[in-house]
Amino acid sequence: MSRLLVSPLVPLRLAGVLLIATPLHAAPTYADPRPTAPPQTAVTLPMADAGWTVPTPAPAPNDLQEAGQRFQPRWSARGMVASQEGRASAVGAAILRQGGNAVDGAVATAFALAVTLPQAGNLGGGGFLLLWLPGESPALGRGCVGGARPVGRAGPPSGDSRELRLGTGTAVAVNFRETAPAAAWTDLFLRADGSVDRQRATRSLASTAVPGSVAGLLLAQRCYGRLPLQVVMAPAIALAERGVPVDRELADSLAAALPLLAADPTSRALYLRPAGGIARSFATPGAPGRFPRPASVAAAGAVHAPAPSAATGVPFPQQSAATPEPLGPRAALPALRALQPGEILHQPALAATLRRIARQGEAGFYRGPVAAALVNLMRQRGGLIRSSDLSAYRAELVRPLAGRFANHPLLSMPPPGGGLTLLQLLGLLDPADLAVSGAGSAASLHRLTEAMNLAYRDRNTWLGDPASMASPPSDLLDPTYLDQLRQSIDPRRHRPAAAIAAPPPPRRESVNTTHLSVADRHGGLVALTTTLNFAYGNGVTVPGAGFLLNNEMDDFTAAPGLPNSFGLVQGEANAIKPGRRPLSSMAPTLVFRPDGTPWLVTGSPGGSRIITTVAQVLLQRMVWGANLATAVAAPRIHSQLWPDRLSLEEGFSPDTRSLLEGMGHRLHPSAAMGAANSVEVLAPLGSGSLGAVDPRRGRTHAVGE
Ligand code: DON
Repeated sequence: MSRLLVSPLVPLRLAGVLLIATPLHAAPTYADPRPTAPPQTAVTLPMADAGWTVPTPAPAPNDLQEAGQRFQPRWSARGMVASQEGRASAVGAAILRQGGNAVDGAVATAFALAVTLPQAGNLGGGGFLLLWLPGESPALGRGCVGGARPVGRAGPPSGDSRELRLGTGTAVAVNFRETAPAAAWTDLFLRADGSVDRQRATRSLASTAVPGSVAGLLLAQRCYGRLPLQVVMAPAIALAERGVPVDRELADSLAAALPLLAADPTSRALYLRPAGGIARSFATPGAPGRFPRPASVAAAGAVHAPAPSAATGVPFPQQSAATPEPLGPRAALPALRALQPGEILHQPALAATLRRIARQGEAGFYRGPVAAALVNLMRQRGGLIRSSDLSAYRAELVRPLAGRFANHPLLSMPPPGGGLTLLQLLGLLDPADLAVSGAGSAASLHRLTEAMNLAYRDRNTWLGDPASMASPPSDLLDPTYLDQLRQSIDPRRHRPAAAIAAPPPPRRESVNTTHLSVADRHGGLVALTTTLNFAYGNGVTVPGAGFLLNNEMDDFTAAPGLPNSFGLVQGEANAIKPGRRPLSSMAPTLVFRPDGTPWLVTGSPGGSRIITTVAQVLLQRMVWGANLATAVAAPRIHSQLWPDRLSLEEGFSPDTRSLLEGMGHRLHPSAAMGAANSVEVLAPLGSGSLGAVDPRRGRTHAVGE
């Protein structure tokens, strides 16, 4: 106890609450050494006893001029793009330099990611975009939002509740989550015996929901961008046309997905090559988690290709081949390998699709030859999407979910996005307590875990697509309710999941989605998270159109009480229903300074770990005084009620772990979680921005304007 280190400026009354805290870990003395960084003086905390401040320690004088923290964000005098792939970030920054705003930059980056990051960037998936732009809404004059400002009155225009005025600007969210096709039904993935057919739910064409990405990106750009769409999309078209050199991480990712990609003729022709010789190893497509690791794939040389196309007789049909190929006899098949570092990923069909979209807008994707190619594929291989689903698809502008944390206004994505659970989780935490117990301490990790479990219990029970629920839950963020939940947390003892909710069977977790953050020189912000669900979605590329399809239908509840691929157990509210959007964890998030000026842009991939990743980036930056880069790099934990265990990345000390075990937590060493590419706007506005990409992924890159 006596070794608990508490800042002398922290009232002892507070420290008294926290005497279970770490004996061996002091609250870290984080400080941002950067002169242009926002003031590090104090974090004001919204407590019952208002007026408390927990000081962020000042950097110790240092004759060697060493940095105060081990990780440093990238600095720009103007805007910043942080994404999961360097070429795409450079595209976004170039668009900012051409006079684009944050929306133009984000949309250009997202289209570029559809070319350079095929495992997650996409045209065939969906996602959420959250934006804030200074000044009047540009959407008003473009027919995107209704209502004119009452004559002679200041303030928000009347008549459109989708936009939200915050500080001196306007915020809105774009919901471009995929929808269930009209032909879908609740038991789509159930076998006759009531069990879930995982192969069908994740690897078949029935796993594909109606793609939303193109509609969402175009809606955002048309209503809130500044440049012509053709300018914004030109770099992505050029990248697809000229080809992208494959680097080590993409080669490894393709190798890990080799059996999946080999099962589809068009994906095979795009991403794989004959290995020369006959394969010695074999992996079954459709068994996620059992794919060979890249090293073993390389060692084994390859896996078998599916049978040659009956129509062409060749093992590697060209990209335009539409012939469905069932898995056939395997003995005499050629071996395949993924593209290797240094080879070029050429995507001419994708370039043609992008060009069509740039010229024709949504019609270039949701109607005409691209739509026809998609629908043909669906008909041939048991998919449910029809042309009426495509022409009926609409991305939507929605009002962001607004909250406050540690005295900062915060916006995130409402359901079906993950923002409500994020706000609930933050609402169950007391920043003052956490500031005292410190980053990485067992006491903080315990409180965080208990709060995560409660937030996931409510998510699993109540949340779904509000657009198709009879009565969407309205009181999950009610302060009285959150107080009750917070008080139910025992600061010394883990509450077993079974004491909170009925237990389900366990399942595996998986990773791949992508998040990008953009700020422009005027303080405009965009947080954009997009996904195919699994890496490379269901592995199927639309012939002639060159884009991969999502397997987002698996985010629905296949059967109430049974977990999906992320181990998430969900309820009736998220059952499959035509036109409904599946519940998502994606939580693009914007944070503002207490005076309403723009500050942080963040978000992450990571499936069910997205919400907890975003929360921890915010805690690090807002409560524990980490600079943006340290906040993103700091080791993370995750708990989601079921399975009843606490996942920890590397980087927590053995004594912290044993303290947690002593509190009743079952610890689970975890692979790296998330990729929270984030941006920070410096104060005063106009003095530049910082970018921090997640070191957990190799291709992440922040590029200044
Ligand atoms: O929307 C969701 O919650 C999931 N489809 C996201 C999947 C994901 O993040 C995978 N990995 N990184």
